[in-house]
Amino acid sequence: MIEPVTPIDLRSDTVTQPDEAMRRAMAAAEVGDDVLDHDPTMAALEERVAGLLGVEAALWVPSGSMGNLIALFVHLQRGDRFLAPLGAHVLDAELGTAAWLAGGMPHALPVVTPEAVIAAGGGESPYYGLRTTLLCLENTHNASGGTVTSADEHAALVAAARSIGLAVHLDGARLWNASVALGVPLTSLTAGVDTVQVCLSKGLGAPVGSVVAGSASFVVEARRVRKMLGGGVRQGGVLAAAGLVALDRIDRLATDHSNANGLASGLRALGWEVEEPSTNIVLASVPDLEKTLLSLRDVGVFASPMSGKVRFVTHGDVDSSDVAEVLRRLREDI
Ligand SMILES: Cc1ncc(COP(=O)(O)O)c(C=O)c1O
Repeated sequence: MIEPVTPIDLRSDTVTQPDEAMRRAMAAAEVGDDVLDHDPTMAALEERVAGLLGVEAALWVPSGSMGNLIALFVHLQRGDRFLAPLGAHVLDAELGTAAWLAGGMPHALPVVTPEAVIAAGGGESPYYGLRTTLLCLENTHNASGGTVTSADEHAALVAAARSIGLAVHLDGARLWNASVALGVPLTSLTAGVDTVQVCLSKGLGAPVGSVVAGSASFVVEARRVRKMLGGGVRQGGVLAAAGLVALDRIDRLATDHSNANGLASGLRALGWEVEEPSTNIVLASVPDLEKTLLSLRDVGVFASPMSGKVRFVTHGDVDSSDVAEVLRRLREDI
């Protein structure tokens, strides 16, 4: 009889299951009606995240996409142009809501440097020209394979944006990974931004939740937009409690990064063309993407397509023995 293989799911760091400690915290959460006034556990989470990010205030939101949309909605007037890295989540993976609902005209930057920001967003234009008002950054950059923007690069980009009068929003869905990979505090990666969005439901392992943050006046406005989008929840402390547990697990991301490294070098040893991972995402170039994803699935290794490549993401529900098992299956069966 053929033994069924246990799938090893490396499609994303969003596939993690909440563990016992997280479920216990959710069950025991102190709650209130967050739409009427303020749920105490959500308030505690928001205050803690604002402190970690070095901003005045923060707002829990159900998803990273909603956090980004709320920020863009508050920043942009209809028809305002915003700059974002080519392949950014706000450009490619949020159903065009930046344009559709926030009213922005997207402009992708193939390379994100201070010079490119100034060239794309600065200078005089005739009255009928587009007005550029926002730079949207992404750290880590998902579609490039979890690449990291350093604190110095970040500061230079913010300074360039400021020099031409742009506001700055940071999509920090995986900012925790950037902070751990660089060994720097989160505040050095948020310095100077107007708004930032961080996800609790990726490498940190919460089942749901993100936080959008900035000035106190931004959060007042963001709360209104969240309600408008249907994201106001009542006893959300049940969800925020998972987020608070998740925040205790930031340092654990170093393990995901070392597992990604182990996977990348193992794949390379097997002859795969693999980029050096900066964090928890490994991208591999293959001649036939669809065929490779199917062959991987046949041996119980789940990966996803990203930027025309195979994307493997390490996370809290896989360890180094799973990585070794993935490599064993690929050595023997593919
Ligand atoms: C960089 C980035 N931003 C935003 C999001 C959106 O998060 P969510 O899936 O919670 O809407 C993701 C999700 O993968 C992401 O990778």
